[in-house]
Amino acid sequence: MEAETVKKKRIFSGIQPTGTLTLGNYIGALRNFKLLEDEYDCVYSIVDLHAITVRQNPTELRKACLRVMSLYLAVGLSPEKSLLYFQSHVPQHAELNWVLGCFTYMGELNRMTQFKDKSQKHADNINAGLYTYPVLMAADILLYMSDLVPVGADQKQHLEISRDIAERFNKIYGDTFVVPEPYIGKVGGRVMSLQDPTRKMSKSDPEDTYVAMLDSADVIRKKIRRAITDSDSEVRYDPENKPGVSNLMSIMATITGKTMDEIALEYGSKGYGVFKDAVADCIIAELEPIQKRFNEIITDKAYLQQVMTVSAERASNIAYRTMLKVRRKIGLAALKL
Ligand code: TYM
Repeated sequence: MEAETVKKKRIFSGIQPTGTLTLGNYIGALRNFKLLEDEYDCVYSIVDLHAITVRQNPTELRKACLRVMSLYLAVGLSPEKSLLYFQSHVPQHAELNWVLGCFTYMGELNRMTQFKDKSQKHADNINAGLYTYPVLMAADILLYMSDLVPVGADQKQHLEISRDIAERFNKIYGDTFVVPEPYIGKVGGRVMSLQDPTRKMSKSDPEDTYVAMLDSADVIRKKIRRAITDSDSEVRYDPENKPGVSNLMSIMATITGKTMDEIALEYGSKGYGVFKDAVADCIIAELEPIQKRFNEIITDKAYLQQVMTVSAERASNIAYRTMLKVRRKIGLAALKL
């Protein structure tokens, strides 16, 4: 009985509803969301406010929002156990973003590598939102007093700045926020591009560089067959000298649970053709049931509506309490004297 009353630790994470989700998003984040769901009290957001830091077509963005919500449900996340909601439905994210912006130094934001990358990609739209993106991310996490944040390795720097902001605030005003820890998978924290395995797989790159979670079996097989490897033919884990093969091995290892040694033993000398087909097979076997559920859920508007409304309301209750505390600590005018 006693064990049941112990409060579970809290998880927060989010995914941007831009374009389509990739195998990188799945292996680096979404898959872990599901694996951690029973052990933690989970808050999973669809971070639509982050998405508008680059120009979006409104109709496409609206559709992408529902697609990501349907994917959350299709991978098996349970709206009874976890909160599954849109960031913009809980206005305290934006409110805390402002407050935390006043506790973040420009010097810190200047060091963010994602800002530098995205500024290069969107040189015609280097806006203030793109610059302060990590502050909104810190607000997301701190709003829910989150202990753990499952993300891919590319988000490590953003997690570090979230921790720094929380610690700074706590030092000035006394214990207010929980200082969050990142959760990054040892294998699969960084799924690489199929065409340039020294870069991370990204949905903003050309289509042949990534597997989308909703790609058909044929497309997946073609993309994996065309993945860049090397002129040698040995399946061996060596990220430095064999980044392409090592990336495919990591994908297989996370999906099947096999170790690198087991994979090397099984496919080592069979050649890349056989190995690539086996990699494609395991991706397809993993994604097909998700795609089947996705196709049912995306058309069930009533269900989607119910999940997002109930979750947003519960998330708002937590967020409201945090903001009361923050307002009091920093001395904002009280609504009731
Ligand atoms: P986004 O939408 O760019 O990515 C969502 C998640 O997918 C992970 N990811 C990858 N993991 C491994 N290999 C890859 N190639 C790969 N590509 C993407 C990302 O690391 C991320 O975990 N800024 C966040 C969204 C966010 C957030 C938050 C996350 C906003 N607020 C608060 C956690 C907590 C992002 O990168 O989204």
